[in-house]
Amino acid sequence: MKAIAVHPGTPNSMHLREVDEPALADVPHGRGVLVEVLRVGVDGTDKEINAAEYGDAPDGHDFLITGHESLGRVLAVGDDVPTHIVPGTIVVASVRRPGTSLFDAIGLQDMTTDDVYFERGINKRHGYLCERYVEDWRYITPLPSCLSETGVLLEPLTVAEKAIAQAFEIQRRIKVWEPRRAAVLGSGTVGLLATLVLRLRGIEVTCFSLPRPPYRNSELIEEIGGTYASTQDTDIKDHGEFDIVIECTGFSPLVWDGAQILAKNGVLVLVSVTGGERTVEIPSDHINQAFVLGNKVMVGSVNASPEDFARGRDDLVKAYAFYPGWLEQLLTTPIEGLENHEQMIRELTENADAIKVYVQVAARSGASSNGAAAVGANA
Ligand code: BGC
Ligand code: ZN
Repeated sequence: MKAIAVHPGTPNSMHLREVDEPALADVPHGRGVLVEVLRVGVDGTDKEINAAEYGDAPDGHDFLITGHESLGRVLAVGDDVPTHIVPGTIVVASVRRPGTSLFDAIGLQDMTTDDVYFERGINKRHGYLCERYVEDWRYITPLPSCLSETGVLLEPLTVAEKAIAQAFEIQRRIKVWEPRRAAVLGSGTVGLLATLVLRLRGIEVTCFSLPRPPYRNSELIEEIGGTYASTQDTDIKDHGEFDIVIECTGFSPLVWDGAQILAKNGVLVLVSVTGGERTVEIPSDHINQAFVLGNKVMVGSVNASPEDFARGRDDLVKAYAFYPGWLEQLLTTPIEGLENHEQMIRELTENADAIKVYVQVAARSGASSNGAAAVGANA
C-alpha cells in the first residue's frame, strides 16, 4: 500500500513509498483493529519533521511514515475487541504508546518520565499517512457517524482538552475554583479548539493573536461567543486579569506576558512546542513576586490521556449542538490523495490563511456516513 514518509535527519525528504500491508495478527491476543484511513491532518510538528528538526524512525527502519492526526473507518476486528468497535465504526487512534516509566505502566504515557517516547507518526512509531493501519483497540476512540468528517480534529482537540483538564485537576488544591475569565494566546487550530472547550465549559474567553480582525479566525472566535484582540492594536496587559491562561502561539516570549495577566490563584498552561533557541529579557522580580503572593501556577502540558480523547469526542458532539457549522469551517485546506504530498507541505509551510491542512486519503464515497454494509464482506 502507499504511504507518505520521511528519512529522519534528512531535510525535505517527504516522499511517497510502497509499504507492507498491515494485518490484524500484527497485534497479539485478538486485540487488533484494522482501519481504513479516511483523512489525516497535519500541523507544525509535521513541518518540523520534514525539516529534520524533530522525529525519528522506528528502530531498524530508515524511514518514518508521518501523520498523527488520524480519522478512519474500521475494516475488521480481532476476537477480543469489545463490541463498541465493529466493522464500519468511525475511529481515531491516539499518538503516544507506553514506554517504561511508572506513568506508562498505568496508561498515562502522556505523563512519561522516559527520555525516549514513542509517538505514532512522530517518534519511533509509524504514523497514519497511509491507506490502512492496525492498532490495539485500547488506543482507539470510536466516534458517532456525525463526526465522520470533522473527527479529524479530535487529536489536536485533545491537546486543548488535556491543557484545560490539567488546570482543573491542579485547582483541586484550592477546594473552590469557579474560573470566569480565560485568555487564549494564539488563534491557530489549538487556540481555536481551546476557545471552543472553554466556551463549552461556560467560561468567558479573550483570544489574543497577531493578525488584525476581521479575518476568518477572529470571526470563528466571535461565532462561539469569544472576544478577539489583535496584539498589533492592544497590549495583552490592558485586558484585566484571567483565571486561566493557555499559551499556544508557538512563540515562547509570550509565556511571560501570559504570566503577567494571571489572576491570584490562577493557572497558566503552556502547550507550545518550541524547538528554537530564543531568549528574552523579563521583569523577573515582578513576575516572581506576583506568583508567590498570589499562589499562581505555571504548568506544561503535552500530548493527551485516553480520558482527553473521550472528553474530546464528547465536546465535538456538543459543538455540533451548540455551534452548528463551526467545526467544518476549521477544515480549510483539503489535499486530495497521498500522491499530493508536495502540495500538502506547501500549504502547511506557505499558506498563512489555512487553519487545518488535511489529506483526504480514501476516495470520498456516498457510503461514508455508514460504512458497515460496504465493508461487511471484508470483515
Ligand atoms: C502532537 C502530540 C505530541 C506532540 C509532541 C504534537 O503535535 O499533536 O500528540 O505529543 O506533538 O511530539
Ligand atoms: Zn500535533
